[in-house]
This record gives sequence, structure tokens and C-alpha cells, in this order.
Amino acid sequence: MNILVIGSLNMDLVMEVEKIPKLGETVFGKNFKTVHGGKGANQALAAAKLGANVKMIGAVGKDVFGESLKNNLKNNSVDVSKVENIGLTSGTALITVYQGDNSIILEQGANFKLSAEHINKNEKLFEWADTIIMQLEIPVDVVMTAAKKGKELGKYVILNPAPAQKLPCEIFKYVDALIPNEHEAEQLLGYEITEKTCVNAIDEFKRKGCEQVIITLGEKGCIYNNKDFISVGKIYRTDVIDTTAAGDSFVAAYAIAIGEGKSIEEAIKFASCTSSIVVNRKGASTSLPTRKEVETRLNEK
Ligand code: RIB
Repeated sequence: MNILVIGSLNMDLVMEVEKIPKLGETVFGKNFKTVHGGKGANQALAAAKLGANVKMIGAVGKDVFGESLKNNLKNNSVDVSKVENIGLTSGTALITVYQGDNSIILEQGANFKLSAEHINKNEKLFEWADTIIMQLEIPVDVVMTAAKKGKELGKYVILNPAPAQKLPCEIFKYVDALIPNEHEAEQLLGYEITEKTCVNAIDEFKRKGCEQVIITLGEKGCIYNNKDFISVGKIYRTDVIDTTAAGDSFVAAYAIAIGEGKSIEEAIKFASCTSSIVVNRKGASTSLPTRKEVETRLNEK
């Protein structure tokens, strides 16, 4: 299947900490690494490793990180011929990992220089694709233009609204599958996502125009609708070492499974299994599993 990812490429500067610093405080970190990341690039790479043909539209800077970010995708069979070198700096993410969980500060750099023009001049890629995947580390108007184009051409449009941002209401009617985590859903809707409110949250996104909504809940699994029926997807238990890219791998795996004709339940199982492998490894692109690894883990259960 053919997947077009429109999104970010970042260089992740990662350090593990035993204490989260307060304002004005210095703490020691360890195991510093630079890792290829960015939600868009992670989703593109995850999809390629799971067996899809993947092309990407994005932007990197004319700095040392730019070529390295592109090469990492190219070496994993992602077509980056439409990832342009614009501006001075590539996207850069400062990531601290504390007890397996991460916090991220992102400088969007070149990612933010993408424009609707990059979408319009690459219409052929939209025609080629079966599925379009986007996130929100690029300008919202670019996501809007791409979602509209994808929908007009009858493609399956997936939006992972991460990190959460204010979105024009119109965008939801161009989205076939919306995959936020609970924090992003909270910010988009303006209320806390709890066991009581999540059914309402899914209904509200559906009323806005999304057919399929999956709210991921970290170690609690996810909640999703199958038409009007709402269910809870369980996670695969594992030792959590680093949650970076867990959400990205979930989105890519879900896209592949749905594209291959699996049911929503099967797709969620495949996606959860994929991200359970990711959280057991360190880093973003470095933690993404191959199709064989996911299938082996699926068969163990
Ligand atoms: O989802 C994980 C990604 O978010 C990291 O790779 C980092 O670049 C940030 O964009």
C-alpha cells in the first residue's frame, strides 16, 4: 500500500534524568544521544518498516542535521525527494526521559516553513497515495490544505493532532481517522478526558465530521468507536523504557492495518502491539520495529 506522510523531521537531543529540574535548578543527566526523530519522520519510517511504500512531504534546514535526517529515511526506503531544504535550521527537539516517560521542547525550524504551495505543487503524490498521514508539527494551514486535497481525491486521511493546537472546525470533515492522545483530546475539546467523558469526546469529534476516532491513553490502552459502538483497546504489557515515538508507531501501524483491510479491532491490536515494542526500546527512529518483529510478538500472545 502507498502512504504519503506530510509532516516534521527533527533531530532529537535526548538525555535521561533522575530528577526533573525546577526553574533555576541544574540536575545531572546521562546517556546523551542525538536520534533522528520528528513525528512525521517517525510515522514515515514506522510505516516503511512495517512494509508500506512511503513518500514524504516535509522540510529540513540547510544545516548538518538536514541531510542526516533525510538520509536516515532514505536508507529505510522512504522517498524523501519532496523533503525540501529550506531555511537555516532543521527542527530540533530537546527530550528528557524520566522514569521511561518523556518531555519534549521543540524548535520547529524548517518544519514551520512548509506552506500550502508545497502541497499544491505535489498533487501527484496525493494521486499516488492510498492513505495520507499528518500531525501538527507543521503549520496548521498546510495540514488543512492537505487534508482537503486528500479527501477530495478520495484518499483515507489520518490526522494525529500532536502536539495539540487550535484547529479550524472545518478540518474535521476532511479527516477519516482522528488519533489524539488523551491530553491532545482534552486541549481540542476543552475538558478532561476521564472514563465518564471519553464516550462524549468521541461523539463530539464524530459530530465535527471524523468518522473514526481513537483516543490513546498510554498504559491504559485506547478508546475507539466502531461505527456507533465504543470499545476499549487493551495494551500489550511490557517493560517501559522510553515512550518516545509510541504514539507515532501506533498511528503508522493502524494506517497499514486498515489499508490492508483489517477490521478496526484487528488494526488496533496490531497498532498496540507495535507500540508495545517501541516503548521497550530507547529513542524515536531507533525504537521502531520491523513487520517481522511485530508479527512475532502478535503470535506470542
Ligand atoms: O513523537 C516523538 C517525537 O516528537 C520526537 O521524535 C520529537 O522529535 C518530537 O517531535
